[in-house]
Amino acid sequence: MTEQSSVIFRRFELKDLDQVMEINKQTLPENYPERFFRTIFSELPSAFLICEINGDVVGYTMARLEKGLSHYSIFHRAKKGHTVSVAVKPEYRRRGLATKLLKGSINAMIEHGATELFLEVRVSNSAAVNLYKSLGYEILKEIRHYYRNYESAYLMVQKITKNSKKG
Ligand SMILES: CC(C)(COP(=O)(O)OP(=O)(O)OC[C@H]1O[C@@H](n2cnc3c(N)ncnc32)[C@H](O)[C@@H]1OP(=O)(O)O)[C@@H](O)C(=O)NCCC(=O)NCCS
Repeated sequence: MTEQSSVIFRRFELKDLDQVMEINKQTLPENYPERFFRTIFSELPSAFLICEINGDVVGYTMARLEKGLSHYSIFHRAKKGHTVSVAVKPEYRRRGLATKLLKGSINAMIEHGATELFLEVRVSNSAAVNLYKSLGYEILKEIRHYYRNYESAYLMVQKITKNSKKG
């Protein structure tokens, strides 16, 4: 990335699908079939964002809204914003791209009525845990053997308040 690079953050479009699936395959053990990406996109397009540098997709995040029991009170139901996946190509990391993608996606979930946010992350993925903490998420609990290789996940959550929108 040079000073002349063109860096664009925008909504995902179906023409980006192959590049997004390739980044997902290269960077994460959790890979999904094409129809999964399409479904997530059709349900909440404004929270499915990509970063494009000089015409190539270099990062993405996607999220959905889920109605269910609140993570803060089992007596209440909530509209929960769930970050399903985020990844940035290795050569473009530590430049704030994931932060910017997630801020945009979080704002979209809030605009669509999310009252709390959550996600799962491998306990060994300290880069991602730090990233989420920097955006206001806290570890609620560990979910043992959550992943296919039996690794545990942290369930990370954040409650939406009037100051939650990300600048
Ligand atoms: C996690 C990931 C998305 C971060 O992307 P990124 O664009 O490099 O993140 P940012 O530059 O926005 O980082 C923001 C903050 O997150 C934390 N962070 C990011 N990478 C980190 C690392 N390798 N080690 C420690 N903290 C890290 C830091 O607090 C960082 O702020 P700083 O650079 O000012 O110290 C990227 O490493 C990635 O794609 N990993 C593989 C896929 C993955 O694990 N996704 C998450 C699945 S739950």
